[in-house]
Amino acid sequence: MTSARSFSLPTGPFRATVSVPGDKSLSHRAYIFAGMAAGQSAVAGAGTGADVASTRRVLAELGVEIDGEHVRSPGVDDWTEPAGDLDCGNSGTTLRLMAGALSGRPYRSTLTGDRSLRRRPMRRLVAPLGALGADITTTDEGTAPVIVGGGELGSADVEIPIASAQVRSSFALAALQGRASSRVDSPAGFRDHTERWLSTLGLGVWESKTAFRIHPGSIPPHRYEVPGDPSSAAYLWALAATRRGAWVTTPNVSLNPGRIGFLQVLEQLGAVIDAEVTSSMLGDPVGTVTVTGRGLFSTEVRGTLTAASLDELPLVGVVAALGEGITTVADAAELRTKESDRIASTVAMIRALGGGAEETEDGFVVVGTGFLEPGVVETNDDHRIAMAAAVAASRISGVVQIEDAEVAAVSWPTFYEDLEAVCSSR
Ligand code: S3P
Repeated sequence: MTSARSFSLPTGPFRATVSVPGDKSLSHRAYIFAGMAAGQSAVAGAGTGADVASTRRVLAELGVEIDGEHVRSPGVDDWTEPAGDLDCGNSGTTLRLMAGALSGRPYRSTLTGDRSLRRRPMRRLVAPLGALGADITTTDEGTAPVIVGGGELGSADVEIPIASAQVRSSFALAALQGRASSRVDSPAGFRDHTERWLSTLGLGVWESKTAFRIHPGSIPPHRYEVPGDPSSAAYLWALAATRRGAWVTTPNVSLNPGRIGFLQVLEQLGAVIDAEVTSSMLGDPVGTVTVTGRGLFSTEVRGTLTAASLDELPLVGVVAALGEGITTVADAAELRTKESDRIASTVAMIRALGGGAEETEDGFVVVGTGFLEPGVVETNDDHRIAMAAAVAASRISGVVQIEDAEVAAVSWPTFYEDLEAVCSSR
């Protein structure tokens, strides 16, 4: 990452209806499900960011042909043994989900990624996949490269101590290849896309609000229509929330309950939210969201709400700084394991823009004054910090400089152009 981007955006109220890029979590899953199925599937509307491209690249190494919307696969049982390491780039979802999908293969696969991904915790995969009988190793530090596969899988009932959709999904994709049914449980608040899809396909069933039983079986070929990404729409929702009289409508976005905690946080902070389910993707709700800006105050985010707004918490920091009063984010220690230590990066971003923020062990506290100031923001190669800083910049008179701003392309390649267009729409 090299270049900085300087920002000065129109600050008045805007009115905009915007289609956001295809959902990242659902795009990964659509390609992986299609890649595991034997035959011809299709994935329409997928995200165009670098992370989703990493999943496509890894599947291609295994013999899955992806051409435009078309995905043709021999099926997971007949994947080609990879010739070398599988490079997952910056994408934790690619690495963790593919580790599960590959753990029942008779050969060993090595999954690795860029410097940031190789710092992230992978030991959390070892106990659940190991319980299924998978042979899995990480480095001594518990990081990638992760080496998996080489034997047959049995069945297991596991309890995962964190609300991680990636670990749950990794386990489920492995358990599909086991000898008998398996069960996964964890604290609440996770995005349950994988479970909803498996349940719709007859490959699993909920046993409680958080416990899911997976039945071994083959994923059938399917046409996946990926809706827009609420974690991308969130930047536009925040933009509207921070301007009195502005509104934005985002049609056709995922409304999975594990993805839209941020809407509840915005409502608690004072924005007006209207969300309506209009369709579903394999049992996973999709719909239209409108956010209208009014005054902003302060709030508390903890427990299940923290889990359901995890990727948006840097943005919560920005919105809270532009509100009035003290906002507390707690139970968010997982933020330290993301593309950067997002507790440290969020607090540093707010302070760089003249705001008041403090780290706590498992979150942060923001002193909202209603305004931020020009400054230079370090992104620490983290797309969500770069994009949150751009939203802050849209409320600042003067120039904000975002270092390594192009890291936004990990999830939204045209983010800055789209943001400028929304700020200018009347
Ligand atoms: C994701 C799950 C979450 C989220 C990540 C995408 C997924 O991670 O933060 O951006 O697609 O399953 P965890 O499972 O680590 O909570």
